[in-house]
Amino acid sequence: MARGIPSEVIKHFHLVPLFRSVSKKGIRSIVQAATEVDVRENTVLVREGQTDRDLFVILRGTANVIKDGKRVRELVPGDFFGELALLHGAPRSATVTARTDMRLMVLGWREMSIVLEHEPTIAKQLLAAMAERVRANERSVTN
Ligand code: CMP
Repeated sequence: MARGIPSEVIKHFHLVPLFRSVSKKGIRSIVQAATEVDVRENTVLVREGQTDRDLFVILRGTANVIKDGKRVRELVPGDFFGELALLHGAPRSATVTARTDMRLMVLGWREMSIVLEHEPTIAKQLLAAMAERVRANERSVTN
């Protein structure tokens, strides 16, 4: 146990690729930021242009990323989304919908912003994904 958190919970969080190399102390903060939700197929999870900033990790099921009405990516368990608004504060760059019934971990942006100050491994992964996705979106605009 890391200060009141059962070891099964720590293990559960360590199975999420984004959190694999986070310290137990870091996991404690993430647990406080996290809620798990089940959603039905076709639920809109984030909508392009809106200004919410939570980060989502897919635990089960798949999601479609839709930009300007076109599907740009399918996301699968272990993938995350919502990092652009979390890191940058800009409106959502795309709509993400549940392609199947899903289980998601929702991470509150205020708590996650604090976690990121102490956990560079998470920050690096979010930045790498952000860079890759921004480039992909630029390509889809110029093509
Ligand atoms: P955000 O802009 O906060 O909300 C929409 C999310 O969709 C965005 O963060 C990314 O997580 C995700 N996203 C946007 N464009 C792409 C892309 N080309 N490939 C994968 N995911 C994307």
